[in-house]
Amino acid sequence: MAKIFITRPIPEPALELLKEAGHSVEVGEDRYGLSKKKLVKILKKSAYDGLLSLLTDPIDKDVIDAFGGKVIANYAVGFNNIDVEYAKSKGIVVTNTPLGSDSVAEFAAGLILTLSKRIAEADEFARKGKYKAWDPYLFLGHDLRGKVLGVVGTGRIGAATARIMSQGFKMNVVYYDVVKNETIERECHARLVSLEELLEISDVVTLHVPLMPATTHLISKERLALMRKGAMLVNTARGPVVDEHALEEALVKGQIGGAALDVHEFEPKVSKKLAKLPNVVLTPHIASATEEARRDMARKAASNIVAVLGGREPLNPVK
Ligand code: GLV
Ligand code: GLV
Repeated sequence: MAKIFITRPIPEPALELLKEAGHSVEVGEDRYGLSKKKLVKILKKSAYDGLLSLLTDPIDKDVIDAFGGKVIANYAVGFNNIDVEYAKSKGIVVTNTPLGSDSVAEFAAGLILTLSKRIAEADEFARKGKYKAWDPYLFLGHDLRGKVLGVVGTGRIGAATARIMSQGFKMNVVYYDVVKNETIERECHARLVSLEELLEISDVVTLHVPLMPATTHLISKERLALMRKGAMLVNTARGPVVDEHALEEALVKGQIGGAALDVHEFEPKVSKKLAKLPNVVLTPHIASATEEARRDMARKAASNIVAVLGGREPLNPVK
């Protein structure tokens, strides 16, 4: 019987699947996650074969050294919280949970709509009892049909966002990635362009790259300056992909039209400056927070552990 540690409670069917496979499972009790110090202590105290981590757990060299097991299964699409190279050098398999649903893409589409139709601002206005009379000038937003959507990163989530916005809303898609994506070129007539051209011509820019050294502050002050005056920026990827201070400045100066952020550079801290701006939508990293996606993630994380401990290839190895 193998022993698994889950850093904090996650949705079913994770526990169920691990127990069905005959493993014993312990779960960290802190709802908001263990500190690194506590995690190291727990891992040192007993020998676990599998570790199920969350994106908020820094799985660095210290944690990996404290863990003597075979597999670290991240309950997340992203894995920037894990020192994957170091884990691999110690013979540990790392896995993630690519989404089987379009939850993040649907959320990105929701943010694009919220911004362009000014839904959050109008909701606040109506709730505060400010709606006194119908007015032809009240909350004028923008149509999306025929506008240019710039998709930065066309993995599964970026590609799904391109599909929703081009097929559903008839936006024209351009994209930037290090590899050509023939599927979205065929399905969405998407055109591969340089990041600079994408920023110059897009009405809406949506980010879907993983966080790594090459994508940290990918959207910098200089690149924000390339965007069109009315353009909108949507980030459902990772906070540090955008230089948040530069974004604050660009928005305060009216250099771009608006921004919607589900992820934040200094998460869980949300920019106080951005929170004061009407043309900004801020959400607390919930793009994958659907019942369906979270069950799928729980199932995948547990199945990856069961596979590795059973001597099989996991479904979602991080390469
Ligand atoms: C969420 O951000 C994830 O990576 O799953
Ligand atoms: C993200 O793009 C994924 O592969 O799930």
